[in-house]
Amino acid sequence: MTEPGSGSDRVARAGIITAASRGIGQAIAAALIARGDRVVITGRDPQRLAAAVAELGSPEQVIGVPGKAHDDEHQQRAVTAALTTFGRIDYLVNNVGANPVFAPLLEVPTEAIRKIMEINLISALAWTRRVHQAWQGEHGGSVVNVASVAGLAPAAGIGAYGISKAALLHLTRQLALELAPTVRVNAVAPAVVKTRFAEALYSGREEEAGAAYPLGRLGEPTDVAAAVAYLLSDEAAWVTGQTMVLDGGAGLAGRLG
Ligand SMILES: NC(=O)c1ccc[n+]([C@@H]2O[C@H](COP(=O)([O-])OP(=O)(O)OC[C@H]3O[C@@H](n4cnc5c(N)ncnc54)[C@H](OP(=O)(O)O)[C@@H]3O)[C@@H](O)[C@H]2O)c1
Repeated sequence: MTEPGSGSDRVARAGIITAASRGIGQAIAAALIARGDRVVITGRDPQRLAAAVAELGSPEQVIGVPGKAHDDEHQQRAVTAALTTFGRIDYLVNNVGANPVFAPLLEVPTEAIRKIMEINLISALAWTRRVHQAWQGEHGGSVVNVASVAGLAPAAGIGAYGISKAALLHLTRQLALELAPTVRVNAVAPAVVKTRFAEALYSGREEEAGAAYPLGRLGEPTDVAAAVAYLLSDEAAWVTGQTMVLDGGAGLAGRLG
């Protein structure tokens, strides 16, 4: 694996973070830019994406490529943009995730289940393959998949989402085995983090919701960003196929989020 140096001779790395125009993805981008990296971020709404790019840094540090994360042509555009602009793709963060239905599994239309799998699972594989072919297969690198505690245990109403995230965790281990020793593949599994995605779970009752966690609060996007930045760093050079559970201790108390 090509390991950029550390300290003053550290080569500025570059990577792609999907679905990063707000929330956890944007926080991951901010953490990586803060340590001197350059990133390509994606999102569907071009205006929101442009606003996030402007907030995150200069064009030398961050560019946005609008599109749907599960769209093949969009994936290729983003990979090409990363190579053209930054000349390398040291890492990929598969952060996109969708949870469009809240219903018992048997009541979720098959088409909706296919869509959830397409966005949450298959796109992660497709992005990883594309980045591997374009850069990491030759030069090495690292991948982090953003899963969820919903992938660790069943939970009412979010079965299809949970199944997709459980499969994403297995995908992480499978790819970690297949792509070693040149590419490391890890995952994070957060419980409730304060973003628009999870707003319905805590809106108007944040203190009460936070008190259910042994660490006394809900997750912040920066909590997830710090873990992802670690997993992508040289400090994690001997870590692959792992899932870092970020749950404020909820699992200790027998709750998974
Ligand atoms: N928040 C939580 O409590 C929590 C807990 C566990 C895991 N997660 C996981 O964390 C990840 C990020 O969630 P978040 O909480 O940060 O959500 P968020 O705040 O709602 O942000 C979602 C981001 O994804 C973009 N996006 C959505 N669908 C997309 C698609 N199909 N293609 C490309 N971009 C897309 C959105 O921009 P556009 O709408 O413009 O596309 C936005 O930038 C997801 O994988 C989620 O499953 C979240």
